[in-house]
Amino acid sequence: MQIEEKKIDEEIQGQATMLESKNPSGKKLYLESYGCQMNFSDSEVVASILIDQGYSTTKDVEEADVILMNTCSIRENAEQRVRNKLSQHNKRKKQNPSLVIGILGCMAERLKKDLLEQEKLVDLVAGPDAYRDLPNLISEVETGQKAVNVLLSREETYADIAPVRLDKGGVTGFISIMRGCDNMCSFCVVPFTRGRERSRDPQSIVAEAQDMFNKGYKEVTLLGQNVDSYKWNVTKKGEIIDPNQPTVSFAELMEKVALVDPALRVRFSTSHPKDMTDDVLHVMAKYENICKYIHLPVQSGNSEVLKRMNRGYTREWYLERIAAIKRIVPEAFISTDIITGFCGETEEQHQDTLSIMREVGYEFSYMFFYSERPKTLAERKFEDDIPLEVKKRRLSEVQEVQAELALEANSKTVGKTYEVLIEGISKRSDDFVYGRNSQNLTVIFPKGDHKPGDYVNVTIQEYTSATVKGIEAN
Ligand code: 5AD
Ligand code: SF4
Repeated sequence: MQIEEKKIDEEIQGQATMLESKNPSGKKLYLESYGCQMNFSDSEVVASILIDQGYSTTKDVEEADVILMNTCSIRENAEQRVRNKLSQHNKRKKQNPSLVIGILGCMAERLKKDLLEQEKLVDLVAGPDAYRDLPNLISEVETGQKAVNVLLSREETYADIAPVRLDKGGVTGFISIMRGCDNMCSFCVVPFTRGRERSRDPQSIVAEAQDMFNKGYKEVTLLGQNVDSYKWNVTKKGEIIDPNQPTVSFAELMEKVALVDPALRVRFSTSHPKDMTDDVLHVMAKYENICKYIHLPVQSGNSEVLKRMNRGYTREWYLERIAAIKRIVPEAFISTDIITGFCGETEEQHQDTLSIMREVGYEFSYMFFYSERPKTLAERKFEDDIPLEVKKRRLSEVQEVQAELALEANSKTVGKTYEVLIEGISKRSDDFVYGRNSQNLTVIFPKGDHKPGDYVNVTIQEYTSATVKGIEAN
C-alpha cells in the first residue's frame, strides 16, 4: 500500500500523536504509528475508541499511562525498528511499573508469543480487527494479566466509528474504505496480518467525507490495499446480496465522494493493475476534483517474475493499463512500487524492471529490496537466493533511474500553472508554504496572504527531483 512520502519517514521514526484532553483527570495515551497510511488511519479509530473511554492523548511519552505502538510487518527492517523502540519503552516501565505497553497492527498476530511470553516486552497485543476490545484488554492488564486479542474478522470495518483526526493540519485526511486483502501476492504478509478483504458501507464513507469537509478539510484520500476491488452489496462471485439495495463499485463510490463538494479533492490508493478498470479512469477524467494521480505498483517489469510474485498480470497487461491511463487521463502522474532481488530474479529480469520504468516514465516510485516474510507463499515455495549486496545494488540502479525520471518530469512543469492546495508552512522558511497540485507534486511558493487550506494558482519556476518551486500566478 502506498502511499505518501511521509510513509517512508514514519516507517523509520514512528510518529506520536496528541489531542487536547477531553477529560483532564483521565488517563493519558501515547499512540505511536509505523508503516503504511492504513495504520495511521487505524490509529485514528483507536484514538476515537479510547477517547470515548475518557482517555486523552499525549505527545510526551514520559506522562503516558498507556503506550500503544501501531506496528508494521511488511519488511523485516520495519519490525526491527519497532523492537528497538519497545526496548526503550520498557526502560520506562522499570521506573513506572503501572505503565501499560501494548502493540497493535500487523506485528500483533505474528509476534504475540515472542513479545508477550519470551521477551516480555509488552503487556497487551491487539490485532487490526480487535480495536473495539481495547478498553477490556487494558482493564485486564490493570488487574495484573497479559491481554491478547488477535482474532481477524470477516466483517469488521469500523464503519460506525468516527475517527479522531490526529493530524493537526486539518487540510488533508484519509478515509479507510475497505480492510484486508485477498490477493496473496507471494512476497506479501498483509493477507496474513490483516485478513480477508471486506468493503465498508458506502453511506458511512460519504458521510465521513461530508463531515470532514464541514470541518474544513479540503482533501480526502480513499484508502484500501486494492481499492479497485471495492464492492458493496455484491459477493466475490458477483452475486447481489440484497436485491432491494443498490450495488456500489469503486468507480461509483469515487463519484459519490467527488459529489460531496467540488472544493473537496479526492485521491485514492492503492490501485491494482489486474483490477483497475476504464470506468475508474473515466470517473477520474469527468470530475475536476478527483486528483489526476495514480499509484499503480508494478513490482517487477518481467512477466516471469510477476508470475512468481503471483501478481495476476504480465508486463504487457501492465503496459496496456498504462496506455489506458495516458489515453483517458492524459495529464495524470503515475507512481509505482518496485521490489528488487525477488527470488530467482536474473540480471536480465532486473533489466526489464529498469526498462519498464523508462517506458512508463514514472514521476515517483517507492523502491525496496526483497525481504522474505514468514508464512508467505514465497517463503514456502521459493528460495530467497539473491545475495543481499546484489539486491541492494539492483535497488540503487532502480533508484538512479527514478531520480532521472523525476528530474525529467519535474523539468517539464516549468512555466506551467497549477492549482495548489496549501498544506503547511515550509520547514525551511516561514515566508514559504507548501502544498500539492492535483498530480501529487509538492510545490513550494511564497506565502503572501495565504494560509493552509487555500487553493492558489502557482506558476512553476524551478525544480529538483523531489519538489518544484514557483510564484502565485497573476
Ligand atoms: N519485501 C520487500 N518489499 C515488499 N513489499 C511488500 N512486501 C515486501 C517484501 N516482502 C513492498 C511492495 C508493496 C509495498 C507496500 O511494499 O512493493 O507494494
Ligand atoms: Fe500485499 Fe499484494 Fe495485497 Fe498489496 S495487493 S497488500 S502487495 S497481497
